[in-house]
Amino acid sequence: MSVSINRPINRRRVIQGVGASLGVLALRGFSVKADEPVHFTHGVASGDPLADRVILWTRVIPGSGSHSEVEAVWQVATDVEFTQVVSMGRATSTEATDYTLKVDATGLPANSSFFYRFIVAAKTSPIGQTKTLPLGMVDSYRIGIASCSNYPQGYFNAYKHMAESDLDLVLHLGDYIYEYAEGRYASKVALEQLGRNVEPTSEILNLEDYRMRYGLYRTDPDLMAVHQRHPFICVWDDHELTNNTWKDGAENHNEGEGDFQQRMRAARQAYHEWLPIRTTSNGDQAPIYRSFQIGQLADLHMLDTRLHGRDRGLEYAKDLTYQTITFDIRNPKAPKIIAPKQAALLADAQVQQLMLPFDLSSGKPVAVTDYTKIAELNPKTLPEGWSYLPDAASFRREKLDNPQRTILGFDQEGWLANELQAGKARGSKWQIIGQQVLMGRTGIPNLTLDLAGKPKEYVDFVRRLQSLEKLGLPFNLDAWDGYPASRQRVYEQLISHASNPIVLAGDTHNAWAFNLADDSGQAVGVEIGTPGISSPGMESNSATTPAKLAAAFRDASNELVDLDTSHRGWAEMVITPTHMTNQWHFVDTILQRDFNVTSSQVHVCKVGHRRFSNS
Ligand SMILES: [Fe+2]
Repeated sequence: MSVSINRPINRRRVIQGVGASLGVLALRGFSVKADEPVHFTHGVASGDPLADRVILWTRVIPGSGSHSEVEAVWQVATDVEFTQVVSMGRATSTEATDYTLKVDATGLPANSSFFYRFIVAAKTSPIGQTKTLPLGMVDSYRIGIASCSNYPQGYFNAYKHMAESDLDLVLHLGDYIYEYAEGRYASKVALEQLGRNVEPTSEILNLEDYRMRYGLYRTDPDLMAVHQRHPFICVWDDHELTNNTWKDGAENHNEGEGDFQQRMRAARQAYHEWLPIRTTSNGDQAPIYRSFQIGQLADLHMLDTRLHGRDRGLEYAKDLTYQTITFDIRNPKAPKIIAPKQAALLADAQVQQLMLPFDLSSGKPVAVTDYTKIAELNPKTLPEGWSYLPDAASFRREKLDNPQRTILGFDQEGWLANELQAGKARGSKWQIIGQQVLMGRTGIPNLTLDLAGKPKEYVDFVRRLQSLEKLGLPFNLDAWDGYPASRQRVYEQLISHASNPIVLAGDTHNAWAFNLADDSGQAVGVEIGTPGISSPGMESNSATTPAKLAAAFRDASNELVDLDTSHRGWAEMVITPTHMTNQWHFVDTILQRDFNVTSSQVHVCKVGHRRFSNS
């Protein structure tokens, strides 16, 4: 049975009534036209289903008059008329949670679909649909996978398509919102013609900012529709926090933006308020990694690779230094090359370390070690045909491969190992790892590019990557490729305790499929990277065609099975006792409400194979 989805609220309607008594901020982008006792401002949502319960969400604000709290009745029924109510209760929305309201509706039968709603006096929320997880073996389970929905880039057409699709569950792998100020990481058309400006207009830094940004996103009719139609299981990536977050800082947390941990506390609080995630008794500052059992068919482990325990991400520009040479300069007329060990025994003033240039004119790099020739040189004065070369060996040895570095934190690594072992003891068929960043090894594509007319930032980025390509270094240090020891530890667990691992990733805005293998080449499992809902992919800045780019990535990445670099959309995964299939659905535009969907080939992994059949 289907239920009609309520029409979107027009944000541009005149604000009256509530605004006067409660303050415009409480509206969070919602506009009201009538002086009613309460307002359901942002639809309904459900999430974190278990076999006997599910989180139900709404937001209800008082109208004019009293504005301290609102008591609502919630109901779960098997029919849309609510004649067969199977669970109900009362809950209160208050200012302390930004008038969001979450309840854990318990006592529900497994593997069942429900309708739910909230009621305050004579006012009823939109009716949502949700579903509990199954018990035992089930024939088939269908999951929609989403990430990277950026409001000022365009319409969430992919969410609309998900809302209209028959799914058991939606996984959101992060970048549900973006933190930037108006005009940053935005499409000119979306801003100027579609009116998709952000609120607040500044970068979001404090609790009020984060709440306001969620409120804006959740006025989007397609996002409201997909929440109303399907239960979600969500984890954050960086942009619900701030760009390239790690446990103690972030690329986009700068001087003048206050205390980083205070900002994270605000981001976490707003996330728990606005998303239908089960907030445990440990509160909204507790870890969000958690597991679900899809009957005997699959275990689903949702990870936090971003904030919980992630060490600082390495950056080539900062962390990959040039090769150097050390001289003993005690006799200034005859400096002598010495090993770093010998240099350590001398005083600083007796030693000089220089960048080591290479003469590339013969086609093979030849080190130039003559002190008199190289002492005064710098990158700008290097003779034609000479170059400084990166010290990839030291970079790998001292930084990249450091076994102490972790993307999960050692406690989360241990937790995952325990969860996998428990799943093995239960005999779960598939092990789904829902998380943020790509796990598959991705090399740097070797491309001949036409960089004429491209922005300087992009040209510099490409040049730097091109210089690294020959060194066999990974493409993206922000992904698991930047934490190889941590990945290998997880792979060892997946090989020992998981029979059929499926890793899911978001983050890149592009679609990827990998056969994962550990450091010795042993098959681990498969990985699906979901394309972004609206954030731009590699096509937006690439100086080549998508086909050439995909081919170059495949040449550089042994594990890569399939790749799409130029479409927005989502991934649909179906698991059965014998197969897992994946298909990407791509929308042809995010700048118009009317759109068409094309779907990729179907990727198939059979039970016991740990790799895609069509690879
Ligand atoms: Fe993103």
